[in-house]
This record gives sequence, C-alpha cells and structure tokens, in this order.
Amino acid sequence: MEVLRTAAQLSRLDQWRGERPLVLVPTMGALHAGHLSLVETGARMGPVVVSIFVNPTQFAPGEDLDAYPRDLAADLALLEPLGVKAVFSPAVDEMYGQPGEVTVQPGSRGRGLCGGDRPGHFSGVLTVVAKLFGLVQPQVAIFGRKDAQQCLVIRQMVEDLRMPVSLVDGPTVREASGLAMSSRNRYLDEGQQERAMCLSQGLNTAREMLGNGERNRAALVGAMLRELKPADKIEYAEVRLVPNLEEPDEVSGEVLLAVAALVGPARLIDNLVLDLAEGDVVDGFLLGDPQQWSKA
Ligand code: PAJ
Repeated sequence: MEVLRTAAQLSRLDQWRGERPLVLVPTMGALHAGHLSLVETGARMGPVVVSIFVNPTQFAPGEDLDAYPRDLAADLALLEPLGVKAVFSPAVDEMYGQPGEVTVQPGSRGRGLCGGDRPGHFSGVLTVVAKLFGLVQPQVAIFGRKDAQQCLVIRQMVEDLRMPVSLVDGPTVREASGLAMSSRNRYLDEGQQERAMCLSQGLNTAREMLGNGERNRAALVGAMLRELKPADKIEYAEVRLVPNLEEPDEVSGEVLLAVAALVGPARLIDNLVLDLAEGDVVDGFLLGDPQQWSKA
C-alpha cells in the first residue's frame, strides 16, 4: 500500500488505471467500521484509493477542527489488510495553497438540515471533494448514506459541473445498539452513548409509522422529536424527499428521514433513506447501487 502525500506523487496511481475502475473513498480519517465497509465495497469494484484529510474549510468556527481525532498510523493499519492500493494523505498546504479564492457553492440542496446553522459547511465539503476528484481522477467515488445531504449535494455538483466520475453510496454501519458509527462517537462516555441511541430510535419509529401507512410529514416529524428528548439539544428532525429535499405535507416516493442532535460534546447525525414506491418500505439509494459495477 502506497502512502502518497503530495499532488506530484499521485502520478503513481497510473499503474492502477486499467480495465477496472479506479475507486476513491474520501475520508477525514479516524477510521471505523463504517469507513471500512465503503472500502470493502470499493475493493469489489476495482483498485481503491482512500484519501485521509481533515478538511479545515468544512468546519464552522468553534467546531471541533482542532480536537478532531487524527491517527494516521492506526488508519493505515486498518486499511492495509483490505487490499487498498494507495492512501492519499496530503498536508493542508498541499490542498489549500495559493491561489485559494475559488470555491464550489452548493445549490438549493445545501440549505437547511446540516447546511442551516453551519454556514460554509457544504461549500467546504464540495470544494475539497472537487479538488480530490481533480487530483485523483477516479472513475468511481463512494460515499456513506449516513451523510445523506452530503451525498445529495455532491451528486448535484457532479451532475451540474459535468464531472466525469460515477458515484455510489454505501449503507450506514451501526453499533449493536443502533447508534450510527461516527468518528465523533469517541467523544462520548458510556451514559452519553446510551442517550445517543435516541437518534436511531427516532428514525426507526418513523420507519415503523411509514410501514403502517402513515404519510403525513408533520406526524412523522412529531414522533421523531419525541424520541429525541434524551439528547442535550435537538438540532433538527426532518422528513424530506430525495433528491431535491422538498417538504410536502404528504410524502411519497423516496424519502429521507434525518435527525441531528447534540449529546454531551458531540454533534451527531443519522439518516434513513426509504423507498415507498412499491408499497413496502425498503432501503433506498442516494447515488448509485454498487452492484451495477460488480461485473466491471
Ligand atoms: P468522514 O466523516 O470521515 O466520512 C467519510 C465517509 O464515510 C463519508 O462518505 C461518510 O458518509 C462515510 N461514513 C461515515 N460514517 C459511516 C457509517 N457509520 N457507515 C457508513 N459510512 C459512513 O464525510 C466526510 O468524512 C467528509 O465530509 C469528506 C466527504 C471526506 C470531505 O471532507
């Protein structure tokens, strides 16, 4: 496994450009089983490059940029056994040298939810993802459905800017308790971890209601808010449509259930993407089904 630190070193990726697609899994490190599941999905499609870069521009002032866990050696030890070909782990200067005035702004999908009270967050995400796509030039990039709005703003960037990359999304990996895995879970003590289960419980309650035929958005939101009471501060509980995040009174088609809350020191989010189209409530995709690449 090669560890590449500079843009110039990325020419070494050329050895893996061939018949099978070169797959990029962008991360900020502090890897857990959720990240690793995306890597495993990628490895079934083609040679995998993982980027590890704690991107300063997507943290709002006062957020946990300085405290964000960084342990490259531990991350490399987790990636090596998965057959990853290369890890791209640039310094901040490599990604944000001069000039640095041009940024990518999200469209309407960046408003509200995680874009609401975090000004600049999705612009930071899109700008760094655009840089990573330009540098690595992957044919496929994989993102986690846990960050559903992130998936949708990236999808819109790729479509609107005609970027030559295919996107796929992977399911959310959870602790046995239902808590979605997150690098920020390591900020939680035992009691906080237990209270953090309220996020996935809120989503599951709404999923059950949908299964029983409930389609009224306000009723679903109300139920999620009730479940979120153990959190220290609820940031939002919302029900939106995929992919454009509309909020109709009655939902149909593909639906995003999204919650965010503070528990102790951690800002946690969780999502479910559900497809109601066939009558049953089944898991939906936000980007593309990795299966479509399985024969590549
Ligand atoms: P990070 O939070 O490190 O997440 C990297 C990728 O792992 C994202 O696509 C995220 O959705 C996915 N992921 C996180 N937790 C997951 C879980 N429990 N199950 C499955 N996938 C999970 O998201 C970012 O970094 C950054 O915003 C980035 C896209 C790298 C741009 O800086």
